[in-house]
Amino acid sequence: MTTGWKASVLTILPDMFPGPLGASLCGKARDAGTWSLETVDIRDFARDKHRSVDDTPSGGGPGMVMRADVVDASLEAAGAGQDGRPVIYLSPRGRPLTQKRVRGLTETPGAILLCGRFEGVDQRVIEARAIEEVSIGDYVLSGGELAAMVLIDAVVRLLPGVMGKKTSGDEESFESGLLEYPHYTRPQTWAGRDIPPVLVSGNHGAIAAWRHEQAEEITRSRRPDLWTAHEKRQASTDEND
Ligand code: ADE
Repeated sequence: MTTGWKASVLTILPDMFPGPLGASLCGKARDAGTWSLETVDIRDFARDKHRSVDDTPSGGGPGMVMRADVVDASLEAAGAGQDGRPVIYLSPRGRPLTQKRVRGLTETPGAILLCGRFEGVDQRVIEARAIEEVSIGDYVLSGGELAAMVLIDAVVRLLPGVMGKKTSGDEESFESGLLEYPHYTRPQTWAGRDIPPVLVSGNHGAIAAWRHEQAEEITRSRRPDLWTAHEKRQASTDEND
């Protein structure tokens, strides 16, 4: 019996999996039973001899739409709504995936991930099952499979025991609302560039302060949206002190 975090991926391209999820950290964690991966071939739930999963869009227009009846049957077979796992449809129209949502998903028994191809999935199945729509960024992929892999990778690395010494990932980008400070390692001088002297000073207080300043500066210049949110949070904690 597997007791780990269970990902069921509904796709018409099951051969894409495990792909990169079979390598490195995720692959080892899967071998260890920390998580499991099941693919469900949506085409197995087609109802005609051509095994069609899509049809022309109602109202006209380019492309094809994945049929509600076929997708719904694949969701039912994957156990949607039966075991406490959220059902997520990967789509550029979804809510942006955040580290907060990723952490939330580590608390669920797993996830059922629906991958669209073509123009997407008939809206009625998304509404009928109150499916959560998630986007991995403001660009359009040719299907949801790579997005599902991104989501799974982000969750699996946070599962207990996967990251080893770096257990919590607390200091990473986004965990504190700031981007992470820069990293350095030997050699001390490379191509005429030195490691910032504070990092080799042995003064842990000064190192922590320098890293915090760097994190703030990088966030301010690269991600004004995160910076504004950070400032708002600071102001409200100051108020409550
Ligand atoms: N499918 C196609 N593009 C996507 C995106 N940006 N995020 C999630 N799923 C997608």
